[in-house]
Amino acid sequence: MSALVIDRIGSLVTNDPDVGEGPLGLIADASVVIEDGVVVAVGRAGAIADERIDADGGCVLPGFVDSHTHLVFAGDRAAEFSARMAGVPYDGGGIVVTTEATRAATTDTLDRLTLQRVIEARRHGTTTLEIKSGYGLDVANEVRALDVAGRHTTETTFLGAHLVPGEYTGRADDYIDLVCGEMLAATAGRARWIDAFCETGAFDADQCRAVLDAGRAAGLGLRLHGNQLGHGPGVQLAVECGCASVDHCTYLSDADISALAASDTVATFLPAADFSTRQPYPDARRAIDAGVAVAIASNCNPGSSYTTSIPFCIALAVRDMKMTIDEAVQAATLGGARALRRTDVGHLSPGSAGHAIVLDAPSHHHLAYRPGVQLVRHVVA
Ligand code: NIG
Repeated sequence: MSALVIDRIGSLVTNDPDVGEGPLGLIADASVVIEDGVVVAVGRAGAIADERIDADGGCVLPGFVDSHTHLVFAGDRAAEFSARMAGVPYDGGGIVVTTEATRAATTDTLDRLTLQRVIEARRHGTTTLEIKSGYGLDVANEVRALDVAGRHTTETTFLGAHLVPGEYTGRADDYIDLVCGEMLAATAGRARWIDAFCETGAFDADQCRAVLDAGRAAGLGLRLHGNQLGHGPGVQLAVECGCASVDHCTYLSDADISALAASDTVATFLPAADFSTRQPYPDARRAIDAGVAVAIASNCNPGSSYTTSIPFCIALAVRDMKMTIDEAVQAATLGGARALRRTDVGHLSPGSAGHAIVLDAPSHHHLAYRPGVQLVRHVVA
């Protein structure tokens, strides 16, 4: 048995109101004791341990839970981004560019690139990651992407319904048959989740419903990309199908908010995508005030959001989505855990995973107050 103590914590965010103050369960002058990767005590000092991390008065919080990434890809789309900054709108069509580069890459290359991105995310404090396929778009390459993803996380998502690949142009329904048939049969054992991109230019509600129904029948959990580039049926479909999460939610009608508030579906906001695509930011305040459960994730991908930094996303959510700092930090920890239906991560209380971040800052407020500054000093996972 090995034990680790993080002590001299100035401010501890537990996300457990039973062990500390307020919704964040804050404890001042705290310690956390972790044995064999599991938290065994919070708030008590002086424990005996094999290893000790001195927080030096800094803030400690649960590791970030990034519930939406597309880390398995080759190439980049910097030229597309530059053109966008000069006024060319984002429409998702660049997914085919990344699909070509990804298909052409060797598995070793994809492994190396994905590992680099996982390490980068870890440096920013992410300790739990979801990773989607979706740049293979044929059976062999979707299988390969999930194998690469599965070397880094158990939160793997089959996203064959990301875009219609070039060879199926004009035959979207035939492609959906492939996704729901041979592709799902080959990938189901490699994925925990199934996802689809419900958007004009990608897939309509009936096509996405077919994918979600097939995924459910294959034993997968359900998630959906919805309401990214305009109002549409994504949110309502996700609620109707019982998705764990509907992601983007940049455009939310009153009916969408009511449906979410009455459901178990988490609204996952991806503010770095709105930043990189020059979309308006979602009004998270409206959703939270109506009782919607929310998460924040990075959406790291080469087209709409090439960042692994959850602190950056927190800063955007506070500055531009009208979330309080407490809400944004909780959405990136406990919220992400809920979006992945995980109860072991996203909080620090006895029995939880020992995933913690030590900040070079006295409180979690600095995550939004000092944007762009590397405040993560230690990551324990
Ligand atoms: O979540 N919206 C769909 N998928 C990604 C973007 C993928 C891309 O542009 O390569 C997203 O934003």
